[in-house]
Amino acid sequence: MPSLLLHMCSPSPAWSPRFNPGRCSIKLHDILVSMSVGKAQHLPAVVDSSSDDDDMTHGPGRLGVNLATSQCQIEAVRRLHNSLDPERDYLERSACQTAAGRALWNHVIHDPLAEVFAGDALLRGLQEKVRRDQDKNARETAGVMMAVRTLWFDARLAEALVRFDSTSTHQVVLLGAGMDARAYRLRSLKDCSVFEVDSAKALHLKESILQAMVEAGEPLPRLEAKSLHRVASDIATEDWFGRLTAAGFNVHLPTVWILEGFLYYLQEVRAKETLRCISDHCMNETVVLADFMNESSTHLAHELKTHFYFHSDWPEELLPKLGFPQVKVSQIGDPDANFGLINDELNLFHQTRRVSRHVKADVNGNPYRRLLLVESWAS
Ligand SMILES: C[S@@+](CC[C@H](N)C(=O)[O-])C[C@H]1O[C@@H](n2cnc3c(N)ncnc32)[C@H](O)[C@@H]1O
Repeated sequence: MPSLLLHMCSPSPAWSPRFNPGRCSIKLHDILVSMSVGKAQHLPAVVDSSSDDDDMTHGPGRLGVNLATSQCQIEAVRRLHNSLDPERDYLERSACQTAAGRALWNHVIHDPLAEVFAGDALLRGLQEKVRRDQDKNARETAGVMMAVRTLWFDARLAEALVRFDSTSTHQVVLLGAGMDARAYRLRSLKDCSVFEVDSAKALHLKESILQAMVEAGEPLPRLEAKSLHRVASDIATEDWFGRLTAAGFNVHLPTVWILEGFLYYLQEVRAKETLRCISDHCMNETVVLADFMNESSTHLAHELKTHFYFHSDWPEELLPKLGFPQVKVSQIGDPDANFGLINDELNLFHQTRRVSRHVKADVNGNPYRRLLLVESWAS
């Protein structure tokens, strides 16, 4: 499956998947939720959350997250999600789990496909985790990091596109695109060719879900991007760049690269090769947006039933060696990575970002887990 050009379906801005309240059993192993914060901290007992109780069952609660139980009415979509093997298909599940995070925070992300890509079980699992956090009056809530990360990528992407030469077509390449639906949800992509690169298996799952929706009579959301190309390739082992070019990617056009929730699935040598490949080949303005785990974050892989490899505490030192002389690093909670979602000054995100990255652990030996949001420009 070299490349799939996705055809637009009928516009339907008001589209929403048919999810109704219902039963669903889950086995929770949500990721990207506790990743950078470790154990949740608790609010002092004086905090009054009594007025929030009824929010637990009716949509956005105190934290504005979607806690309504949902169940997909499209049987074929349910079968597709149920067919994923937790161990063997951990990459596809990671893609669906990220979509579940977006579905939970959809009031700020506005992803028309998040629920259907997430599937009932993962979404329900994340909702239950939020409930537990709320019951404990935790300062950090499941998925908030995911929401901030997504909004940070959206904001940096929009900013980069505005700065590009407006006379030419722009490109956006998503490596490890998973269930990303930016091509459907961002108006800023109206003049962009979007390329989604992921494994054949992950893209097959994605297209099968969309196909199942169409067959069930559900209109797909309107494509906002100028065009959308899906490029199936294992980025670790195959000539992904060759396939991308064969799909229409043009090295001479200004391009934003989105590596969201992706690099740490690669071995270090592959991650570096991938970044080097981008800077070596691209001849016009090139912006790479990526998140990096620090080393201690990768140790959560076992607990999260996944596999993480590549990490870096200092992307600003690494990236110039790979052809990206300009680098800006942010952390969750920073002014440009907050979006009004992380307000409690005693929140672990705030505590962590105030401590120098040279410090690996607190006085009790608890490691500082960080997710670094990195914007870089190739020379
Ligand atoms: C956590 S998901 C993130 C998906 C998406 N970027 C998002 O933020 O919603 C990680 C994605 O990276 C993809 N991935 C990991 N290793 C890959 C590889 N070697 N080649 C292609 N895709 C890969 C997985 O299939 C998965 O879709």
